Amino acid sequence: MPVISVPHEFNEEGLYVDLQPVVGHSLFLKCEGFNFAGSIKLKAATEMVEAAERDGLLTPGWSILVESSSGNLGVALSMLAASKGYGFLCVTDSRCTLAARRLMEALGSRVHVIAKPDADDDLLGARIRYVRALCASDERYVWLDQYINAGNWRAHYRTTAPTIAHHFPALDVLFVGAGTTGTLMGCARYFRQCHRPVTIVAVDSTGSATFGGTPGRRMIPGLGTSVRPPLLDESLVTEVIHVEETDTIRTCHRLARSGFLFGGSTGTVVSGAMRWLEEHDASAPTAVAIAPDLGERYLDTIYQATWLHEIYGENVLNSDQLTAGF
Ligand SMILES: Cc1ncc(COP(=O)(O)O)c(C=O)c1O
Repeated sequence: MPVISVPHEFNEEGLYVDLQPVVGHSLFLKCEGFNFAGSIKLKAATEMVEAAERDGLLTPGWSILVESSSGNLGVALSMLAASKGYGFLCVTDSRCTLAARRLMEALGSRVHVIAKPDADDDLLGARIRYVRALCASDERYVWLDQYINAGNWRAHYRTTAPTIAHHFPALDVLFVGAGTTGTLMGCARYFRQCHRPVTIVAVDSTGSATFGGTPGRRMIPGLGTSVRPPLLDESLVTEVIHVEETDTIRTCHRLARSGFLFGGSTGTVVSGAMRWLEEHDASAPTAVAIAPDLGERYLDTIYQATWLHEIYGENVLNSDQLTAGF
């Protein structure tokens, strides 16, 4: 019986969904959404905050954490800041879900939404510029910067990857979504350094520039970037798969119709994994994919008919996928 006194003491590390009946391939989905922050970002947030505390950068009751986040890291930092007595300001943009914004505010954080990109810049660039200006204006602000902070990947090197290795000693292939690439790099580095012959498949959204190419429209938060993430070391990645957002949506709804309501990036990762497994079916590998969060944060977007039709058109889903099937 776990009894905790601070919220980040609890995280369910050992839960997998056997997706064989849903996707028709052997695939185990590691669920990272069962903690008080509701996502895998709790791990990166905890590692980065604790490193900053060890470095003497944070003073309870005085320091204000500031971070550019599209949602989940912001929620995790809000939770940690509330628990540890720091302030937290999240700088986000219009892609942040209303649910994530409300969560942060409920936890006592402030949220600044950048609504428009600068003239020659994208939204992420505008967010970063705002954070820099804030830190220059007031010494109470501390920017952990998830895009360059080694704690971001180290969290997964120390927790996510060894847990998967322990649960699946015969693991052949691991599917990991790429956002900041913290999860991807932590897992890939762990399996490479342990000399385990695991195929590491990075799953990214079409329109992301993480692995090269021109950035395009992406509406689902979590995965993808408009500039190459500084944490990324491509030599550690075996393969990269890009997934169209319409496939992400269809996979999310397919999982939901089996009773599993996951977030958008899980739809992307599972969609990419299904494609890869179809191409490698004969080898019947032991395959694990990582599900970064759950679906409740996306009820007004991915799971909402009007939003879907406005963004992706009327035919993104069959009508029976959107309405009750009886
Ligand atoms: C829902 C979701 N999926 C995936 C990711 C990507 O994780 P990472 O930043 O470790 O690449 C994030 C990051 O914020 C996320 O919020």
